[in-house]
Amino acid sequence: MGQQELTPPKELSLEQAREEFLALQEQLAAADQAYHQQDAPFLSDADYDAAKRRYLDLIDAFAELGAQATQKDSVGAPVTSGFGKIQHVQRMLSLGNAFDDSDVADFDRSIRNYLGLDNRAPLAFTAEPKIDGLSLSLRYENGCLIQAATRGDGTTGENVTANACTISDIPQQLIGAPEVLEVRGEVYMSHADFAALNARHEERGGKIFANPRNAAAGSLRQLDAEKTRARPLRFFAYSWGDLSAPLAQTQMQAIERLAQLGFKTNPLTCLCSGVVDMIRHYRLIEEQRATLGYDIDGVVYKVDDLALQERLGFRSTTPRWAIAHKFPAELAWTRLEAIDIQVGRTGALSPVARLTPVTVGGVVVSNATLHNEDYITGLDSKGDVIRGGKDIRVGDWVQIYRAGDVIPKVADVDLSKRPEGAEIFRFPETCPECGSPAVREEGDAVRRCTGGVICPAQVTERLKHFVSRAAFDIEGLGAKQVEQFYSDGWVKEPADIFDIKEKYGAGLQQLKNREGWGEKSATNLFMAIDEKRNIAFGRLIFSLGIRHTGEVAAKDLAQHYGDWDRLVTALDQARPAALAHRTADEAEERERLKAAAEDRRARITETRAAAIAACDVPAEATAAWDDLISADGIGPALGLSLSDALANTDERAAFDRLLAHLTVIPPEAPSNDSPVAGKTVVFTGTLEKMTRAEAKARAEALGAKVAGSVSKKTDILIAGPGAGSKATKAADLGIKVMGEDEWLAFVGSA
Ligand code: IVH
Repeated sequence: MGQQELTPPKELSLEQAREEFLALQEQLAAADQAYHQQDAPFLSDADYDAAKRRYLDLIDAFAELGAQATQKDSVGAPVTSGFGKIQHVQRMLSLGNAFDDSDVADFDRSIRNYLGLDNRAPLAFTAEPKIDGLSLSLRYENGCLIQAATRGDGTTGENVTANACTISDIPQQLIGAPEVLEVRGEVYMSHADFAALNARHEERGGKIFANPRNAAAGSLRQLDAEKTRARPLRFFAYSWGDLSAPLAQTQMQAIERLAQLGFKTNPLTCLCSGVVDMIRHYRLIEEQRATLGYDIDGVVYKVDDLALQERLGFRSTTPRWAIAHKFPAELAWTRLEAIDIQVGRTGALSPVARLTPVTVGGVVVSNATLHNEDYITGLDSKGDVIRGGKDIRVGDWVQIYRAGDVIPKVADVDLSKRPEGAEIFRFPETCPECGSPAVREEGDAVRRCTGGVICPAQVTERLKHFVSRAAFDIEGLGAKQVEQFYSDGWVKEPADIFDIKEKYGAGLQQLKNREGWGEKSATNLFMAIDEKRNIAFGRLIFSLGIRHTGEVAAKDLAQHYGDWDRLVTALDQARPAALAHRTADEAEERERLKAAAEDRRARITETRAAAIAACDVPAEATAAWDDLISADGIGPALGLSLSDALANTDERAAFDRLLAHLTVIPPEAPSNDSPVAGKTVVFTGTLEKMTRAEAKARAEALGAKVAGSVSKKTDILIAGPGAGSKATKAADLGIKVMGEDEWLAFVGSA
């Protein structure tokens, strides 16, 4: 094919071009399937590339063909994964967990507090099994199933529409549904179907799945939908996303409505009048667990009244109105063969238990976390005694517990079976990877390698973090490839990734014998890397892997500073105040933090003020530091580690080298159709229509920043009865003051 003389696209008629285009489209789709499933690739890399180039050239020359392109990934983007990406209109969230009855009571109490309901006010919940499968969002428009997406990272999922269409529990047409309806639920496999599937695979030497959830996930994510059809998948509907009209007024009625529309809903779903009733239902479901015929790992409670669900809203990744009450963890005894130390990206030394493999709740476990050195000694993170103070030694007979997806843990030690001569475990004081001293700072449960960039483990872990899904998410560049490139000496820091093509491109394309590489995969990788040269500011900050900077904090920082230059300028300016903060008595500060979470900011300020007084910090530094740590979601611990990272000249130079390859996409401005977007507001006095927590969450949802104290930056003070010094200060500073009703009218929710 590479040799064939091709007519330049411009010399073709539209009809000729269309004919060739459709033939190529079919061929590329078939080649993709063959390649990705590693069944039997029938095109060489070179032929594949030539076909794809021609396909793209035809689209370039005839815009009409672009609209017909079914292989979306092939148009302008690499055929990176077999599935297209789908942005969820409403995020797919996870659930908070309750582990015992008192957590359930706390859940009820926190909802009442948030809504300002007293203990006698009725508050009903639904209770239903938590299905152990994988969630799926089905979009119907005018009653037709038009799209099915996996959860992915909650914001973007994979397009598995063709696969979903093969599941008989999923209706493809609905009668009487709202114009737009996104139904969400769980895809799962029954025990009987799972056993039969594994038996079939065993006979034919196919893949054996560890449990029904893995089998369901593997089956749904088949690139060939016909393979999915042959797998016995099922689906329970339990919630919804985007809607053009409400389904009902209560959760229970909404589930009934979904059942009327033709979805399978779980028959054990019921309405509970309160905590006692919820726990009773939990026990009933737990008793039936073994005979249900499919895996469940707990019971989900949801506030029944949908208007209250709306008021309660969401935290960053979980709804306030629902919780999963998990079943107790599963337990098993086995031998601890060795304790290995792994070094993480921040240098943390984490002990891992290597075990004689044992089955815990249907899954074979051979590793478990031992958390840190105190945990091995018999102390928890607060310094309290655990396991009756029994330490853990190599050779011990240990009890393992596994709860859902959580990494298995060592719960107990049987001292009667301790081998004679078993030695107390000595936690290393040097890094097992690079030999640098491993130090444990006062108050930190974790011992850390001080090697920084000379420690290969820290460097590779940071690189793995950099390419991970919530960070740069570079298709074709995962942990394995990063390790390979690091050991080849090609990639030592993130910036090197963007130089691979230029420096080693030709070499990589010829690496046919090396696992996974060839001309096509190398070209795909280069395209995937190029795609990420434009990166959202929040993702960039998260990807740097700075301690304490999680996804949410990174987004908050991006929102606060808007771009990289402003962030580093502010941090440079704040540096003297950050150092002064460190000199403050940290132990005292922790006590203070523990003592009054409510008064957090004020107390930090007090401690910091003492330190600053001692260190003679310039006023701009104090102002820049205050601005940083009073930003939404940012505290002094994050402030300090960010400041340390940027003040470290090696790290700073590596960040600059990276930035030189990138165009940073600024964060979206908070929704500007709200009159309070971007404004700083302070609540004071007694609120009568809602609790302080609800007022704060609602203001934040409208894009306002809610501060704890009045300053020059405050835009609006909302003062209820009993407002005191804050109202006086606001008046002095000429800040707008509103009553609660005026505020509600202003934001349009009176
Ligand atoms: S409700 C906004 N109900 O559990 C919350 N989730 O741990 C929507 N799950 O991602 C979820 N059974 O995949 C809900 N009856 C049930 C469920 C359920 C299983 C899964 C779901 C979710 C995960 C959270």
